[in-house]
Amino acid sequence: MIILGVESSCDETAAAVLIDGRLSANVINSQIEVHRRYGGVVPELASRHHLQNIYPVVQAALDEAEVSLDDLDGLAVTQGPGLVGALLIGLSFVKALSLVKRIPYVGVDHLAGHLLSVFLGNEKPDFPFIALIASGGHSSIFLVRSHFDYQLLGRSRDDAAGEAFDKAAKLLGLPYPGGPEISRLAADGDPRAIAFPRAWLAPDSLDFSFSGVKTALANLARENRPGLAVADLCASFQEAVTEVLVVKTLRAAEWLGIANVVVAGGVAANPRLRALFAERCREAGRALFLTPTQFCTDNAAMIALAGWYQFETRKTLCLDLDAYSRTPILA
Ligand code: KG4
Ligand code: ZN
Repeated sequence: MIILGVESSCDETAAAVLIDGRLSANVINSQIEVHRRYGGVVPELASRHHLQNIYPVVQAALDEAEVSLDDLDGLAVTQGPGLVGALLIGLSFVKALSLVKRIPYVGVDHLAGHLLSVFLGNEKPDFPFIALIASGGHSSIFLVRSHFDYQLLGRSRDDAAGEAFDKAAKLLGLPYPGGPEISRLAADGDPRAIAFPRAWLAPDSLDFSFSGVKTALANLARENRPGLAVADLCASFQEAVTEVLVVKTLRAAEWLGIANVVVAGGVAANPRLRALFAERCREAGRALFLTPTQFCTDNAAMIALAGWYQFETRKTLCLDLDAYSRTPILA
């Protein structure tokens, strides 16, 4: 079965081709340069650029996989959550293709895409597993029982982890997106230089809160204390955020007695988060499955894969599918 996946929920226009579950093309057009001067994603600009990019990106994916539209057996597109104007570009494009070429299509939840992105790697976990999604829009812990069964165990009450990285970077005058910038600078810093607060919340809570650590950083940045190196600030901030993510995810695994732990989403590309998960999983005797770095940030390969599982169980949808900004997975 040959599937074309399309993703346009935020600032990446992406298309991927999956042939019998094997990734044959993965094309991503990032709009980072478009939004950088504004310090964050401007929704209207994102929509316009998706409109410009969608056709060439899809064509590039088809070319890379050496297939044509007539070869496609199924289409998979991100239905939500995300910026509705941006989502509608991918969704309308796929619906039109579906109608004209008579190819069935499915809508894929973006979070389901992240949750299943680990299966694009060589090391594939058995169900059930505990999964952390740490991205620009979400920081959530799930119990995943199957390709379709996700139980929410904890979520961010304020900023998502990636959002906290991005806002922290902005406070330090670093370019958007801040996560990669902070992790780059943190490599030369001392993670123990500043004892940033960790919001553990109630002892039985698997929720996150990153607004406190962000405010602490804002106060320090404002103080402009002499001798305080940016690298140390970045390393200490990164340590505070990653430690809470790791401890709470492993707590979920321990409480529910689940052996396998999966980490996904843009922040999962962070080298310190990956190293800390590896260390703590080893100590706790849990099997760790890190999403391959190239599939952590937004891509269409994970959408095509999640779509493939839906096609396998014949969960196809009809043409009146609508985009949504909030995901039912978190309801
Ligand atoms: O999954 P993603 O591409 O988009 C959403 O679904 O939100 O995640 C993007 C987020 C951004 O906030 C970005 O700063 C963060 O992932 N990110 C990182 C790193 N690479 C990307 N955060 C920390 N360290 C990184 N190396
Ligand atoms: Zn994402």
